[in-house]
Amino acid sequence: MSDVRSHLKSLERSRLSRSDPKRPGVFSLAGREWDLLDEVFAPIHSPSTSIALDFLGLTEPDPGAAPSSLLEIGCGSGVISVQAALSNCTTVAADINRSAVENTRMNAERHGVTDRLTVLHSDLFDALDDGARFDRVFWSSNYVRAPADYRYGSVHERAYVDAGYRTHRRYLEQAVHHLTDTGSALLHFCERGDAAGLAGIAEETGRELRVLRRRTVLEGTDPVEHTLLEVRPAGRHAQSGARDTASGLPVRG
Ligand SMILES: C[S@@+](CC[C@H](N)C(=O)[O-])C[C@H]1O[C@@H](n2cnc3c(N)ncnc32)[C@H](O)[C@@H]1O
Repeated sequence: MSDVRSHLKSLERSRLSRSDPKRPGVFSLAGREWDLLDEVFAPIHSPSTSIALDFLGLTEPDPGAAPSSLLEIGCGSGVISVQAALSNCTTVAADINRSAVENTRMNAERHGVTDRLTVLHSDLFDALDDGARFDRVFWSSNYVRAPADYRYGSVHERAYVDAGYRTHRRYLEQAVHHLTDTGSALLHFCERGDAAGLAGIAEETGRELRVLRRRTVLEGTDPVEHTLLEVRPAGRHAQSGARDTASGLPVRG
């Protein structure tokens, strides 16, 4: 396995972030202050959250934006969901980690958006009503693949690795069932993930993946490409034929 995709390296990142003696209780991002609880994914230790804000056009909230709705799977400390709610977006934020649920509620209160942001403790879509539909469903995922028999040592590790890509498989299967007629199911993925494995799961689950956005950032000395993927039922739309050079996935036509 290439080093960049090593699940052991990602587990080490989780350990270092969790045990950092300088880990703050409050951090700054996108011009705001955010509470950070123990056991919750720390945006200050990874570029992912800032990149996700950029991918979704939420780096600067727009209170005058047209009304919309978002389901954020894996809300962590709640930065993305709160920025969406500040942009006139009725938002549901869900996480499997109870500390993340509490942390997102704290940040929703801190930024005055509890009227537009509902927070759920949920394993992916399990706690949602069957009929819940959104303009966007989004997950900034734990894109590194761990072996199928890996046993998590902490709930914090669930932000970093997905054992056997079981959660990615369920996300690809289920996200499209929670969309409005014109909605999009989105996945923030990364070169640290197993793009070929994900493409195989898409095929097995009758989904196609399309690259909407790409951004390369330096992590230490490694350039690492992040991608915003759209998940769609296979065969619904003609594809452009163009392919992303890094992942081999089709790009926006
Ligand atoms: C990379 S972190 C992103 C956190 C946050 N969105 C951010 O950008 O700061 C991935 C998140 O997915 C959550 N997660 C992992 N598996 C999940 C599942 N089965 N259901 C819901 N959330 C899950 C993790 O707990 C973690 O909060």
